[in-house]
Amino acid sequence: MKIHHDIAGLRAALAGDRPVAFVPTMGNLHDGHLALVRQARAAVGPDGLVVASIFVNRLQFAPHEDFDRYPRTLPRDAGLLAGASCDFVFAPDEQEMYPEPQGYKVHPPAALADILEGHFRPGFFVGVCTVVAKLFQIVQPDVAVFGKKDYQQLMVIRRMVDQLAMPIRILAGETERNADGLALSSRNGYLSDEHKRDALLLSRTLRALIARWQAGERDLDRLEADAMQALRDAGWAPDYVTLRRRHDLGPARDGEPLIALAAARIGQTRLIDNLEA
Ligand code: PAJ
Repeated sequence: MKIHHDIAGLRAALAGDRPVAFVPTMGNLHDGHLALVRQARAAVGPDGLVVASIFVNRLQFAPHEDFDRYPRTLPRDAGLLAGASCDFVFAPDEQEMYPEPQGYKVHPPAALADILEGHFRPGFFVGVCTVVAKLFQIVQPDVAVFGKKDYQQLMVIRRMVDQLAMPIRILAGETERNADGLALSSRNGYLSDEHKRDALLLSRTLRALIARWQAGERDLDRLEADAMQALRDAGWAPDYVTLRRRHDLGPARDGEPLIALAAARIGQTRLIDNLEA
């Protein structure tokens, strides 16, 4: 496995006609990221090339968010990627990705990108779409893999690729969890042991919300308010807990595939999770 810090070097290494599968990340890797890398390998086979990027993208962080303290652990990450049959790591510094202010940006449509995460993190999906589009231009992959853990992000990227006719097949990776059901996340590292135990409540709350819907309750406002209150009672500050249509994240309706999504802060740490109903 080889690490490239510059665009020209990576492009030269990828020249040729071997299929390329790509996994964009911000590093501080865990088994969720590595599962995506293995999925990327499976998609292109032993003759294909698997590329993972590691770049903490300032554009998708608001000024008050954790850009400065986001964990940067490249040597450890590189070891993990080498063990997951990755061929190339693209780890640019900020100067390489944004040598001048990134004035050209990709603005996703409000209906999908200004709700949920986009509502609570204004500008987040502009930052994500802009860096992902730029990474796609650099890597020019045939396939790219994104986790369902960030379900709305996955949808926003899929639509971008469709609408801009990018010749890239987007694959979705299942959410990897620890034995207690806590979704793996680089931000779990911010949690104290006590908060880690409490963090299980996030996935439990989603399961309870889905169970009540499946048992026939249809008062969505009530179901969502109860779920928010359950989190507050346990010391969380929830941004949202909601049941939506999987297809466009509109309000839940009978007879359509649904998904429950949540974002909440415990202490200083903001976690998100979702479960397909
Ligand atoms: P990051 O949070 O590092 O996540 C990189 C990829 O790993 C995303 O596709 C995310 O959905 C996936 N992932 C995270 N936790 C996972 C888990 N527990 N199971 C399975 N997959 C998981 O998402 C980003 O970085 C950035 O927004 C990025 C797309 C790289 C753009 O900067």
